[in-house]
Amino acid sequence: MRNIAVFASGRGSNFAAIARAVKAKKIHARLALLVCDNPHAGVIAKAKKAGVPVLLAVRSDFSSTRDYEAAIAERLKAHGVDVIVLAGFMRIISPLLISRFPNKILNIHPALLPAFKGSHAIADAFAYGVRVTGVTVHFVDQKMDHGPIILQEALAIRPKDTPAGLEGRIHRLEHVLYPKAIELVLRKQLSLRGRSVKITS
Ligand code: GRF
Repeated sequence: MRNIAVFASGRGSNFAAIARAVKAKKIHARLALLVCDNPHAGVIAKAKKAGVPVLLAVRSDFSSTRDYEAAIAERLKAHGVDVIVLAGFMRIISPLLISRFPNKILNIHPALLPAFKGSHAIADAFAYGVRVTGVTVHFVDQKMDHGPIILQEALAIRPKDTPAGLEGRIHRLEHVLYPKAIELVLRKQLSLRGRSVKITS
């Protein structure tokens, strides 16, 4: 059985969706660890409720990013983690950690990359007035919201949509798309050529 670690900083609705998918055997892996950098994050209670061990790793407790990530890497190793899933983790992962998990770190972004990078993607897309936005799951590389795209799904913005309504629909889509992408990675049903990800069956 392979082990996944979720990294999150906030309320953790994606964490909860992943935990549900593991329970329902839609993801064939153990949810081995939650790594959280924010002691006030709602995701911590969700992990405890799901019986998932929590590593609270606060960057300011360490003198450098190197030490910080080395401490995280040690715990990932102790839990036998194979795949890292970023779900609203508000820190950039450094090359140090990326190189230890080549093509084994995923991120989800609430827009159709490369449009609307950054941490206000839903509001930015809404304010821009796009007719279509969506969700992207991608491998993590050294640039923010940049790595090869695994899955993407579009969502049309309705004339009566509000930012809050759109946000709810985006999150519901995320909760379906992320488990699918994680399972593809776990089943090694992906091959990479440059930026291009091929899904094999
Ligand atoms: C999600 O919208 C995700 O796309 C983004 O951060 C948000 C996390 O939400 N990267 P939650 O904490 O999983 O509810």
